[in-house]
Amino acid sequence: MRAASHRLCTAPMMDWSDRHCRMFFRQLAPHARLYSEMVTTGALLHGDLERHLRCDALEHPVALQLGGSEPDALAHCARLAQDWGYDEINLNCGCPSERVQRGAFGACLMAEPELVADCIKAMQDAVGVPVSVKQRLGIERVEDYGFARRFMETLARAGCRTFIVHARNAVLKGLSPRDNREIPRLRHDEVYRLKREFPESTVVINGGISTLAEIGRHLEQVDGVMLGRAAYHDPYVLAQADTALWYTPALSRAQVAEAMQCYARRELAGGTPLRAIVRHMLGLFHGRPRARIWRQMLSDASLLARNDPGLILRALEAVEPASALA
Ligand SMILES: Cc1cc2nc3c(=O)[nH]c(=O)nc-3n(C[C@H](O)[C@H](O)[C@H](O)COP(=O)(O)O)c2cc1C
Repeated sequence: MRAASHRLCTAPMMDWSDRHCRMFFRQLAPHARLYSEMVTTGALLHGDLERHLRCDALEHPVALQLGGSEPDALAHCARLAQDWGYDEINLNCGCPSERVQRGAFGACLMAEPELVADCIKAMQDAVGVPVSVKQRLGIERVEDYGFARRFMETLARAGCRTFIVHARNAVLKGLSPRDNREIPRLRHDEVYRLKREFPESTVVINGGISTLAEIGRHLEQVDGVMLGRAAYHDPYVLAQADTALWYTPALSRAQVAEAMQCYARRELAGGTPLRAIVRHMLGLFHGRPRARIWRQMLSDASLLARNDPGLILRALEAVEPASALA
């Protein structure tokens, strides 16, 4: 199947997929495409660019997800993202939160495919890197495959080539964003059908994917898989997937911990608190003996207050005494 560059992706996740989290994911999966948290056009037009756009040279390939619905503002922000080194700009058409709806973007944009097409065109005219969308299958309760197909058709006509499809509807009224990741049922088959109907497009499937076997099954039907919560809570699945897909040996959990300790040392010298980094690493030993000790040590307020990156190796020694470096 085409588009190897999207075969394994990590999801945009507000408050989770920041640059430290992405650096952690990168240690686990050298080939994965990493998506940032959503950044709104408002935040980029009026806020601190470095805070929102900084990314490390080792993060590539990395995509910035934008939230917005005004073509000119999105074009301007796409240019900023390109200048800061992002390899792809992704437009959020899938977030159901009320705050996002008040800003008239996110999943409610799926009701306005022509406007989204204008946004995509404006961004594509502004940058040389690819522009993609992340969408749902539909909005509210009506499950109509034709809705997703028409949306995709309109965007494909505008030149969009990459579609990340969260395989369920977004319910805009009466369900929290959290419920919206569980309650409308998953319809993976309809994403497969989109790929069959748009064979020239790159289609990445998202929603409820958590095991190597599931990843393998989806990749028989579409170009890529995107993992959100599974990547965050059980991140070693990324290492296993990267190894399975690219036949390159993954770092062990201990080697990942060591690499992150080096990264933390560099970051702390620049003023980053240790907690901002290790909070993303709590799942590294998920399902392994003594995983709880790892989590406890890396979330212990008094240990974190010392701001000593050596805590990562001490936690490693506690969980895997044989593999920790002295
Ligand atoms: C904490 C959290 C924050 C999220 N923030 C975003 C976001 O900023 N943009 C977006 O498109 N989706 C966001 N999502 C949705 C995920 O990208 C993904 O579509 C969803 O979690 C389903 O995938 P999963 O079952 O693999 O977790 C978020 C999900 C979580 C758990």
